[in-house]
Amino acid sequence: MKHLLKLMDLSKEEILDLLDLADKLKAERKAGIPHPILAGKTLGMIFEKSSTRTRVSFETGMYQLGGHALFLSSRDLQIGRGEPVEDTARVLSRYLDGIMIRTFAQEEVEALAEYGSIPIINGLTDFCHPCQVLADLMTIREHKGKLEGLNMCYIGDGNNMANSLIVGGLKVGMHVSIACPKDYQPDQKVLDLAAQYPGQFFMTDKPLEAAKDADAIFTDVWASMGQEDEKAIREKAFAGYQVNQELLDVAHAGCMVQHCLPAHRGEEITADVFEAHANEIFDEAENRLHAQKAVLVACMK
Ligand code: CP
Ligand code: NVA
Repeated sequence: MKHLLKLMDLSKEEILDLLDLADKLKAERKAGIPHPILAGKTLGMIFEKSSTRTRVSFETGMYQLGGHALFLSSRDLQIGRGEPVEDTARVLSRYLDGIMIRTFAQEEVEALAEYGSIPIINGLTDFCHPCQVLADLMTIREHKGKLEGLNMCYIGDGNNMANSLIVGGLKVGMHVSIACPKDYQPDQKVLDLAAQYPGQFFMTDKPLEAAKDADAIFTDVWASMGQEDEKAIREKAFAGYQVNQELLDVAHAGCMVQHCLPAHRGEEITADVFEAHANEIFDEAENRLHAQKAVLVACMK
């Protein structure tokens, strides 16, 4: 695998290979077996948005793989003062062995890959969050023992998380149901891809319909990073798009609840549902580390 720009670029086999490698790296880590597979390699991590999990898991992951990670805030890079991404890509390619970037436009990530000569990993854009969804799939498989045929449900904004969950879920053979307000649907490119999976995808604006028979229910914040100005209008639009006990009552028994975090209790998820499923949610957060180490190895070895 050269890059991880979006899950759309990966085949089912590539996704499952990454999950298998992530499971292996996790088991080795738990057994105290070192795996310095990326010794001597350096990852640059460009952040144009905030992060807790992505930053810490990538930096720690590189260290555990024997390599080194550099935190590069766009506030301090010349890119933040207008240096073109094309030039940044060509310069950083001369120093680094890989770049992880969190930014706004998907086009910026694609341009880094086009102009640079090293692997580029997408650590979240407005369009998608592939690393998160690899960890999500890993967590479901860990808890349920399989992915194929399970029902994934997503409630809320048709945002980066919705886009990646739909693509990832469909590719590994899950049924995906999503409930979002009519004005906040997933990206058209994702809906076009979903149309190639007849019988596997269902979209509605009614959360109870989407949650029926779910094996794993996902949600995400109503206002993503960069949408802070829309908070008030979004609170109105998303009222009712909440993961709560009423939704879980129509899901399959033992339905998991997943949240990429950070979570806003009382908005997209109730505090009681969050706490009842905290174990699964923090397994999901932990698996960012293991899934991303698999991505780093696959791209940078
Ligand atoms: N879920 C996620 O990407 O978390 P951070 O924003 O903290 O990196
Ligand atoms: N949709 C959220 C995900 C955060 C991990 C955002 O983009 O802010």
